[in-house]
Amino acid sequence: MATDVFAALLLVIAIIVIYITKYNSQQWKIFSNCHTIPSTKQRQTTVVESTGLVHTTLKPFQLPTLKPRTSSHMAMGLKRLEESNWLTIDKGYHSEHVLRAYMLENARPDVLQCLPNTEAACHEVLDLVTSFLSKRFPECFTINHSTSTIFNHLTKESHLIGAQCSNPMEVAARLAMEDFNILVKDPQSGEYTLMASATLFPAGWQLQERIGTSMANLHSPVPRWQEKLGSAVNRYFDHLSPRTCMERYNLFIQTTNELFQDGPEAPPPLAVLLTAENITVRRERQTFTRLEQSGGVLFTVRTYMQPLIELGAEESEGLLSQIRGWDGEMQRYKGWDHWGTVVEQWCERQISQQRKDLYIVEDATLRERKLSV
Ligand code: HEM
Repeated sequence: MATDVFAALLLVIAIIVIYITKYNSQQWKIFSNCHTIPSTKQRQTTVVESTGLVHTTLKPFQLPTLKPRTSSHMAMGLKRLEESNWLTIDKGYHSEHVLRAYMLENARPDVLQCLPNTEAACHEVLDLVTSFLSKRFPECFTINHSTSTIFNHLTKESHLIGAQCSNPMEVAARLAMEDFNILVKDPQSGEYTLMASATLFPAGWQLQERIGTSMANLHSPVPRWQEKLGSAVNRYFDHLSPRTCMERYNLFIQTTNELFQDGPEAPPPLAVLLTAENITVRRERQTFTRLEQSGGVLFTVRTYMQPLIELGAEESEGLLSQIRGWDGEMQRYKGWDHWGTVVEQWCERQISQQRKDLYIVEDATLRERKLSV
């Protein structure tokens, strides 16, 4: 009897020891990834791999493939946000971080604007950002509550957070890959107004010109904004709560691969022959949420740049359907006159090449079957 009890006790101890050892080795594996970061290339893969390691149950965010247009209407195109992917970290982190830091140091007023009385909202944004990043990507960001700092393991930088931080929107923009905008409802006009913004990668607009202005003014160059979307977006913002976060995507075509675009693209010089190789598909993933304490709307934008020539046949078909779905006015607004023919021809070639390849494979299979009968 005593030996049975002793054996059972030994078994329990062995299970506990195995569990602790396994848990510690997993922890060690995660953190050792962060502390041995010798080169940029290795650093970029570390982010992706270690993100997968920590959150085995959470899928890393994947930009959806370009799909054919499903509706001919100009719509808000909102869908529910998968909250564990509110902010994203991926292999582009290091190079974009360098560019963001450069812009903040050399073109600060063009990329960072916080109007008076937005301090509380800006601090609320930084709190949300640091708490999300340190929980979602614990191998990349560590908060030290006793010193009120956050340490970025990817860049080896440390930032003050909480009440001590004098530039919360800047710190949020340096930590994340997203741009951040705070909109507040004007009690007189009932219009949402852009009150603070860290927009490092604008898609064809100037922050200094639009800060402090309404949604209608922000969208003044967008064809039919007011009649088609203006009041629907206003109503949507009125009902937005921290529990109903949404996301939407948009699409631009550029004849350069510049992330910072503070005006509509100029036509390429006549002497320059535009080819598919020069063209970039620029996509934004935008998210919307309500700031619970200060009451504003937080709008984030993550920009993805993809060379046209890297799109496969399926995405070329999606892209072609999307750009052909824009009416004349929208096509002009998006710069069709500069790149339309080149993009159409390239996509059509991709699609017909895929059809030819499929035909060859089908034909070969048919002939093989006939031979074997
Ligand atoms: C549900 C909300 C929103 C919708 C449906 C929406 C829709 C659009 C659309 C259709 C465009 C034209 C380009 C494109 O195809 O995407 C656009 C451009 C733009 N949006 Fe929004 N938007 C929304 C929220 C916001 C917010 C919160 C801001 C605040 C910063 C904003 C700022 C802009 C700017 C600056 C442009 C570029 C305008 C230009 O070309 O000068 N949008 N938006």
